[in-house]
Amino acid sequence: MTAYTQLQTRLQAEPNTWLITGVAGFIGSNLLETLLKLNQRVVGLDNFATGHQRNLDEVQTLLTPEQWANFSFINGDICNLADCQKAVTGVDYVLHQAALGSVPRSVADPITTNATNISGFLNMLVAALDAKVKRFVYAASSSTYGDHPALPKVEDTIGKPLSPYAVTKYVNELYADVFGKTYCMQSIGLRYFNVFGPRQDPNGAYAAVIPKWISSMIKNEPIYINGDGETSRDFCFVNNAVQANLLAATTPNQDAINQVYNVAVGDRTTLNELYAQLLQNLLPHFLHLGSFKPIYREFRAADVRHSLADISKVATRLGYAPTQRIGQGLELAMSWYIGRAIEQKAL
Ligand SMILES: NC(=O)c1ccc[n+]([C@@H]2O[C@H](COP(=O)([O-])OP(=O)(O)OC[C@H]3O[C@@H](n4cnc5c(N)ncnc54)[C@H](O)[C@@H]3O)[C@@H](O)[C@H]2O)c1
Repeated sequence: MTAYTQLQTRLQAEPNTWLITGVAGFIGSNLLETLLKLNQRVVGLDNFATGHQRNLDEVQTLLTPEQWANFSFINGDICNLADCQKAVTGVDYVLHQAALGSVPRSVADPITTNATNISGFLNMLVAALDAKVKRFVYAASSSTYGDHPALPKVEDTIGKPLSPYAVTKYVNELYADVFGKTYCMQSIGLRYFNVFGPRQDPNGAYAAVIPKWISSMIKNEPIYINGDGETSRDFCFVNNAVQANLLAATTPNQDAINQVYNVAVGDRTTLNELYAQLLQNLLPHFLHLGSFKPIYREFRAADVRHSLADISKVATRLGYAPTQRIGQGLELAMSWYIGRAIEQKAL
C-alpha cells in the first residue's frame, strides 16, 4: 500500500476542512474533485481572473449531491486581506494555488503578476497564520531553478530567476521560510513542473503548451514550436500534483515540514517528442492531421531550455509516488481535451 492510498483511506474516515485558493482554475478544481470525493469539507476562493465557473460546474457533475454539499465558494480576491481572512476561518489545511501563471504574461505585465503572486501570497500567509491553520501548502514553481544548468534539478541548487514570474515564485518560498522561522508557521512549497490534465485552459495567449497544441491541431490551426524543438520539460499529470498536495498537508514527518519539493515524474520529454505523442493520440480521430506540420520559430524570451526534476526528496520525505507518466496522463486526459476543443469549434 502506498503512502497516498493509506492517506486516502484515513481521510475518508476523518473529514477535515480545507481551503483551496484558485479553486476555479486547473489544479485547484482537480484538488476540489479529489477532496470532495474523499468526503472532505472544502472552502474555495477565486476571483475568476483566469479560472472559470464551468470548471466548478464540471466538478459538480462528477460528484454525488451529498459530496457537493460539502463545498462552499467565496468569490474573492487574495489581494484583499479581508477576503483571505474570511476564507481561512475554521480551516485545517490551506492549499494555496491562486496566482497569475505564465512566464510570458509576467514579462508583458510584471506589476499585476507581482501584486497577485507576492502581495496576494503574503495576505494569505498572514491570514492563515492568524487563523492558526495546521499547515499551509502552496504552489511553488520549477521556474525557480532559473538559469542554473544542472540536470536533474535538485531542490537546494537554484540559479537566478529568468522572468518576473520566477521572481514571484521564489519570493513565495522566501516568505514561507521566514514565517516558519519567525512565527513557527508550518508550510510546504511544491515546485510544480509543467502540470497537465483535464480542465487546463486551452484558450488565450498564455495557455500551456499541451492544451494549446491539442486545441489547435483539432481545429487545423497552426502550432508553433519555439526554437529547434529540443527544449525539454518534465510533464506532470495533474493527479500526481494532487497527490503531492494531500501528502504535504497531512504528513506527520517533522523533517518534511518547512521545505520545498519538486513535483514531477522524473521524465524528460522534448517538444518534438511531445508533438509526436499528441499526433499519435489524435490521428485516429482527426484524419486531417495526416498532413499536419508544426511551424518552427525563434526561441521565446525568458524560457528555460531544459527542465527535469529529481524527485527523490519528495519521494523519501512525503512518500510521493507518481501514478501516471506522460503517456498515461495524455491517454487519460485526451477525451477531455478533445471534448473541449470540439465544443469550442462548434461555437
Ligand atoms: N500548471 C502548471 O504547470 C504550473 C506550474 C508551476 C506552478 N504552477 C502554479 O500552480 C498554481 C495553479 O496553477 P494553474 O495551472 O491551476 O493555473 P490557473 O490559472 O488555472 O489557476 C489559478 C487560479 O487562481 C485564480 N486567481 C488568480 N488571481 C487570483 C486572485 N487575485 N484572487 C483569487 N484567485 C485568483 C484564477 O482565477 C484561477 O482560477 C499557480 O500558483 C501557478 O503559478 C502551475
